[in-house]
Amino acid sequence: MKYLITGATGDVGSKVAELLVRRGERPRVFVRDAPKARSRFGDRVDVFVGDLASPESLRTALEGIDELFLVNSGPQIPARDQTAATAAKTAGLKHLVKLSSIDVQHGLAIGAWHERGEAAIRACGVPFTFVQPAGFMSNLLAWAPSIRAEGVVRASTGGGRRAFIHSDDIAAVAVAALTSRAYDGESLPITGPEALSFAEVTSKIGAAIGKSLTFEPISDDEARQRYSRISSSAEETEAHVALWRAIREGRLATVNNNVERILGRKPIALDRWLMENAPAFQ
Ligand SMILES: NC(=O)c1ccc[n+]([C@@H]2O[C@H](COP(=O)([O-])OP(=O)(O)OC[C@H]3O[C@@H](n4cnc5c(N)ncnc54)[C@H](OP(=O)(O)O)[C@@H]3O)[C@@H](O)[C@H]2O)c1
Repeated sequence: MKYLITGATGDVGSKVAELLVRRGERPRVFVRDAPKARSRFGDRVDVFVGDLASPESLRTALEGIDELFLVNSGPQIPARDQTAATAAKTAGLKHLVKLSSIDVQHGLAIGAWHERGEAAIRACGVPFTFVQPAGFMSNLLAWAPSIRAEGVVRASTGGGRRAFIHSDDIAAVAVAALTSRAYDGESLPITGPEALSFAEVTSKIGAAIGKSLTFEPISDDEARQRYSRISSSAEETEAHVALWRAIREGRLATVNNNVERILGRKPIALDRWLMENAPAFQ
């Protein structure tokens, strides 16, 4: 099998490529920045320089490929998944694994973009698997500046809970889907081991770094103002505000055992992620 991995300089895609290399494969990585890919993988992968905004570059990269791992982000997800679906069909791909989101099941915010992307892929007729993670543990790194500067975490999630998942688990599930036919045609919603409120997560970070931290609930308006300073568009800001509101309303607290069912081991706990990442908060 020949694999094309997109998002390979990012969190999940880089781990997918690495796991394939460890299995003795030589994946092709589809990246915008060849030196960044070389510094991550050395000579263990084939590097193809392209852009998911360019259908032509994806078509060329797919020549000779059997399996595609697809990562698209932001409001462009529906259009770019449609482009990838068309290219996958033209290339006669055997299987496509899309990094989606558990929030497709709620049809809100970022989940709605993924829902439309999934629909385009279903319609193209190429066998697919949708890997649908809950919120990533790595999102918590966004809290590092206010924790370091003020010892405070601010969020509009109230007492709502989320079962954060480690990206090692997401990548391992994606590789299980890429390397067997067992999950063809399936959606795989995956979560971490327990749903925690953001106040509980704040206190766990505090314990990991030996510092007392404060969780400060904020309104949707304040969350909107704060996120708009770093957001690339108003659409992206509104999607995040809606996501946090849904967490606050208790709609995104699902915990399931799919990681254990697929990988034969428990999902990684937040405590391990905190051991790996504590220096970022100090
Ligand atoms: N964060 C969450 O809680 C969460 C939850 C569920 C689902 N998701 C989904 O997970 C995905 C993000 O995964 P991630 O965190 O692994 O991503 P990430 O670390 O942000 O990396 C994104 C990757 O995509 C590449 N990329 C961006 N634009 C590109 C383009 N136009 N052409 C080619 N490559 C491009 C980036 O390349 P460069 O290095 O060149 O920038 C990078 O390798 C999104 O679909 C998101 O909706 C996230």
